[in-house]
Amino acid sequence: MPSVRHLVRPDIADLEPYAPIEPFDVLAGRLGLSVDQIVKLDANENPYGPSPQALAALANLSGTTEVAIYPDPNHTALRHALSKYTQQSPERIICGTGSDEIIDLLMRICLQPGDAIIDCPPTFGMYSFDAGVQAARVINVPRNEAFDLDLAGIAQAVEQHHAKMMFIAAPNNPTGNSISQETVERLLELPLLVIIDEAYAEFAGTSMAGMVGQYPNLVVLRTFSKWAGLAGLRIGYGLVPEALIAHLWKIKQPYNVNVAAQVAALASLEDTEHLLGTVAQIIDERIRLYDTLSALPGFSVYPSSANFLLCHIGELPTNHINGARELYEALMQRGILVRFYNKPLLRDCIRISVGTPAQNDVLLEIVHDILSIS
Ligand SMILES: Cc1ncc(COP(=O)(O)O)c(C=O)c1O
Repeated sequence: MPSVRHLVRPDIADLEPYAPIEPFDVLAGRLGLSVDQIVKLDANENPYGPSPQALAALANLSGTTEVAIYPDPNHTALRHALSKYTQQSPERIICGTGSDEIIDLLMRICLQPGDAIIDCPPTFGMYSFDAGVQAARVINVPRNEAFDLDLAGIAQAVEQHHAKMMFIAAPNNPTGNSISQETVERLLELPLLVIIDEAYAEFAGTSMAGMVGQYPNLVVLRTFSKWAGLAGLRIGYGLVPEALIAHLWKIKQPYNVNVAAQVAALASLEDTEHLLGTVAQIIDERIRLYDTLSALPGFSVYPSSANFLLCHIGELPTNHINGARELYEALMQRGILVRFYNKPLLRDCIRISVGTPAQNDVLLEIVHDILSIS
């Protein structure tokens, strides 16, 4: 049998695979639980799901005239609706299969093997992962203990490595903190592309979207995965200055965003009142969870402007559970899924996505139970 190993790019052969979360039903099967016994608080999805109008639009898709034909490659109707939503010109908007696709496309138009990007960990893992796919160098400029950016370190690294781009999640995942407009303006003075990833902007209530076009090197990314409850349909978008966006259009797969995603996103934009209502409920619950978890012995909870909370787990008041990993595992055994981290600056941390009041009550009850607090 001929070997094909030598046909694969050596840097791809050596690449660490991205570790996505385990599918819900597979995990339920492994735990011996039914899917409805699971409280899924591990991927920052929207516990209220899509808007009823989006679900109705999906149900009304007509097979032959819509599903059987290719989708609009230019996302025309959606870009016009997004223009109203973001107050940006449709010429500056491009849609992708999740904002993940726009991250990938931006890297593909900018990075050649050996080029550098600045990454500011702890942050969203796709930036360094996608840079690896382009055989780019990832220059880490870690955040400080409050998870703020090291502006002097970034400026120095940009100069030293001639870095071409940096991605800043605002609010940042998994730390939950955001970034001021003044800081973004400082970054924009540097000679590289600055991509502000606003996956959680609707929960923060602030956005840099209006600044796109005023600076040649600013891109803003947004998504329907979080606030609009459409993570499963994969639909996000970029707000990109004209000079750059032309290159993204050239290289994107023509039919990248499928019919269902375009229809559901459009209907969501017609139902923002409902969706922003659920965002407000999630924010209320974030405040309640923050207060309740912060009062627990061993828990240090970081302030968050997103739909999740990062908790550092110190000494717990029980002999049965030692540290964040064991707490994460104990929660999983009881059907509560959260995300566990144990890497630099995120030692002994768990991230909890904010659920519905009922889900959060179950979480709190089980945490109390595990810690033997009545
Ligand atoms: C900061 C950040 N950016 C982008 C994404 C990906 O969003 P999408 O589902 O639109 O690809 C996520 C998802 O968790 C995220 O946390």
